[in-house]
Amino acid sequence: MTAQSIATAAYIVAFLLFIMSLAGLSKHESSRLGVVYGIAGMVIALAATVGVATKDAEAVAVVLLVVAVLIGGAVGLWRARIVEMTGMPELIALLHSFVGLAAVLVGWNGYYETEGGHGDVTAKGALVIGNYAGLQDQLDDANTLLHIHHAEVFIGIFIGGVTFTGSIVANLKLSARIKSAPLMLPGKNVINLGALAAFAALTIWFVAAPNFGLLVAVTVLALALGWHLVASIGGGDMPVVVSMLNSYSGWAAAASGFLLDNDLLIVTGALVGSSGAYLSYIMCQAMNRSFISVIAGGFGIEAAPGTETDYGEHREISAEDTAELLKDASSVIITPGYGMAVAQAQYPVADLTRRLRERGVDVRFGIHPVAGRLPGHMNVLLAEAKVPYDIVLEMDEVNDDFADTSVVLVIGANDTVNPAAAEDPTSPIAGMPVLRVWEAQHVVVFKRSMAAGYAGVQNPLFFRDNSQMLFGDAKARVEDILRAL
Ligand code: TAP
Repeated sequence: MTAQSIATAAYIVAFLLFIMSLAGLSKHESSRLGVVYGIAGMVIALAATVGVATKDAEAVAVVLLVVAVLIGGAVGLWRARIVEMTGMPELIALLHSFVGLAAVLVGWNGYYETEGGHGDVTAKGALVIGNYAGLQDQLDDANTLLHIHHAEVFIGIFIGGVTFTGSIVANLKLSARIKSAPLMLPGKNVINLGALAAFAALTIWFVAAPNFGLLVAVTVLALALGWHLVASIGGGDMPVVVSMLNSYSGWAAAASGFLLDNDLLIVTGALVGSSGAYLSYIMCQAMNRSFISVIAGGFGIEAAPGTETDYGEHREISAEDTAELLKDASSVIITPGYGMAVAQAQYPVADLTRRLRERGVDVRFGIHPVAGRLPGHMNVLLAEAKVPYDIVLEMDEVNDDFADTSVVLVIGANDTVNPAAAEDPTSPIAGMPVLRVWEAQHVVVFKRSMAAGYAGVQNPLFFRDNSQMLFGDAKARVEDILRAL
């Protein structure tokens, strides 16, 4: 058995593990196992790739490779250990940017291997030329392969560049280092479409006559387009952007796989690319956005955001009075949002759930698909605090039940419970499906101030007759309620 055939077998095992990982991650109950499959697949893939790469390599190259893996692994482990749950989306965006950057570098390397003029040409086409020079038809084949190689280089750099800067902008927006408001350049759709047309034209030119200048041009074009695509998207639509970038990073990895002749990278990239695209599609449905407009980066906030409307006065409630409301309630729905993650309130919320259920109250959770800052954010927090899965329901499963509910506790949620999305066609979040909490008998909103949510839109829920505000840190307030109970 050769080293290459062992590696191929290892790649097939890793590929199967990645598929099992995705399948496992699609359900609460099997998600831990899904993560274990993913780790096992990645270890096997890395070991096989390093094994093949170092088979005939010089000692110094092996040392460099091992050092690089160790440094990368150590930094990854350190970041993963210290990252807060609320910081996950920006970390994920940063990781996507690395995939994009790697694809750009692999693309440039692919160009230098065939066009760099050092003679040690490893690309498929050039190898064939070396072996069969003199035979016209095989030369033609070699030329065709070389054209394909050039197209791979160009496309890989383009996808990588878009992913790189797009992910950097997403990271900056998610970490609030730049404003999440959309950049509204005049004719932004024309800019995007123009960039795509320029890319198509440059690709044809490069395949016909590859040169350094064109490669610089496509790199700059891709970097600028990635930056513009994400900069022009509004805050409330960032979840779709993050999953789109996830998908782009998969395609960037697949493009690198073609250049490096690595089947596993092609297959894994395609898996990430297609599952990311499907996740984006689900998110688009959840947000009532068109998939095509997201791919084009064309949507954002078209209506003027945050035109302040006077909704009247809000009312406040104390933790003690909330406890009284809960004592008399027959059914309670808790709708958590980003604020629960910030306050780390999931543990007292889980205690409160237990206490109320012991008293015979029917307690359930209503989870909006984009509550928090990453897909499944609330589900992860509640699972961490050991809230039973069967009372944690999706928005569609719970939305018709609010009208028959005594008390809704909105814990650190805002945009996801905003009635303006359903009732005000001029609202920047108009059309986004939301949890219809306002239909319940009583609504108690836990937050620290009257500030707007992530999309920067005022929330008329806070001023409804059946709504009361419980101000303060969500964790402290839930603990106060527990004491009063
Ligand atoms: P948001 O609209 O972000 O509102 C969270 C609320 O929590 C804020 O109004 C804030 O009000 C409150 N809060 C913050 N810290 C708190 C604390 N310690 N104690 C109590 N309250 C606290 O939340 P949401 O309803 O979950 O909506 C999510 C938003 O994020 C959507 O616009 C969504 O599109 C966007 N987004 C989602 C994702 C994914 S994939 N889920 C990714 C990126 C963006 P105060 O400051 O007044 O306390």
